[in-house]
Amino acid sequence: MTARWQCTICGYIHTGAAPPDVCPVCGADRTKFIPLPAERQGGLSAALAVFKLHPVAAHFPGGLIPTAWLFLGLHAVYRDPGLEVAAFWLVMLATAVVPVSLGSGLRDWQKHFGGERAAIFFRKIALALTLLTLGLAATVLRYGQPGLLAAGGWPGWLYLFCLAGMLGCVVLLGHYGAILVSRQGGARAVPRPAPAGGIDAWPGLIVAQAPDAILAADAGGVIRLWNRGAERIFGVPAAQAIGRSLDLIIPESLRQRHWQGWGKVMSSGVSRYGEAELLRVPALRGDGSRFSAEFSIVMLKDEDGGIAGVAAILRDVTVQWEREKQLREQLAAGGGPAAAATP
Ligand code: HEM
Ligand code: HEM
Repeated sequence: MTARWQCTICGYIHTGAAPPDVCPVCGADRTKFIPLPAERQGGLSAALAVFKLHPVAAHFPGGLIPTAWLFLGLHAVYRDPGLEVAAFWLVMLATAVVPVSLGSGLRDWQKHFGGERAAIFFRKIALALTLLTLGLAATVLRYGQPGLLAAGGWPGWLYLFCLAGMLGCVVLLGHYGAILVSRQGGARAVPRPAPAGGIDAWPGLIVAQAPDAILAADAGGVIRLWNRGAERIFGVPAAQAIGRSLDLIIPESLRQRHWQGWGKVMSSGVSRYGEAELLRVPALRGDGSRFSAEFSIVMLKDEDGGIAGVAAILRDVTVQWEREKQLREQLAAGGGPAAAATP
């Protein structure tokens, strides 16, 4: 399989199944090459990877139940039995799609909100289960007694009650869904620049387009901002990084120390790292490979002085790190810096 390899000495990129024996630019041997994350795929697989199943599935019951009510209303006026049958088919179709809406909603809850235990999600789950129950009850009732509305007894009223409950559920589910979508607006891949395009837009554009990784996590350590540089450096698209824990980029061996330090900073509101301090750590790419990262952090304080989140500006310094290591090895082996600088 073709992959891309980068020379950590001069930055040359080689494409092939394996790194070259010798770098054609600087002469470094193959051990100096590191694999680069795969380039973004195009075509069907990329389209499927970003396919938004939940909004699509959710709009089925959201659209079909009000339409079923419209058909029932028309049936009441025109007395055409076909309209009542059509309404029943819509109810059955909407009910059949509810498990997909429920499943995809649960998946997006994990994926986009890290399974956050907020009431809105539990309300959505309860409403989705109620919708399913009412849909199944309406289907069983109407299937067992096709003429229940014309007969005018309690089964007909119960059927209408189920359909009214379904309408209420889809309205509330859509309402809460819209709130969640707007909440995601605060957790952006690329911050939207101010519309005027003037100097006010510059900070947004700089964050969005900087070649350095600029990312931010909320107080719970969930990634909320991930710019283009972060996508490039970590090889993880923003859609996959946002909503995930910072563990995504922290090698397992360092996670405990990181979260210990993090916990202290969140409770005390103070970090021991100064403003001008650059930290150097090994970081994890999306494909599991490691690189040497240098970064500074910015504490994001809220109005009350508490910490709302932490931003990091991070750069891949593997090449410099390898050079320093090589220089140190050459110095230790007896060569001077002048000798070391000569390729
Ligand atoms: C039949 C059941 C459901 C319906 C009809 C429904 C409806 C919707 C709608 C209309 C949206 C707005 C989509 C958009 O405009 O882009 C939405 C978004 C959302 N819903 Fe649901 N929902 C259902 C079940 C659930 C469940 C059980 C959960 C999990 C707790 C959930 C979690 C979400 C999330 C996280 C969003 C934000 C967008 C996203 O990340 O996909 N939903 N929902
Ligand atoms: C890239 C991989 C990362 C690694 C390997 C890592 C590792 C660590 C380690 C070892 C500590 C403990 C330091 C000590 O005890 O002196 C720490 C603390 C901390 N890290 Fe990370 N970290 C990483 C990414 C991040 C990012 C991206 C952020 C911010 C968004 C961050 C924010 C913090 C904070 C706020 C502390 C506490 C600092 C303090 O004690 O004042 N880290 N991390």
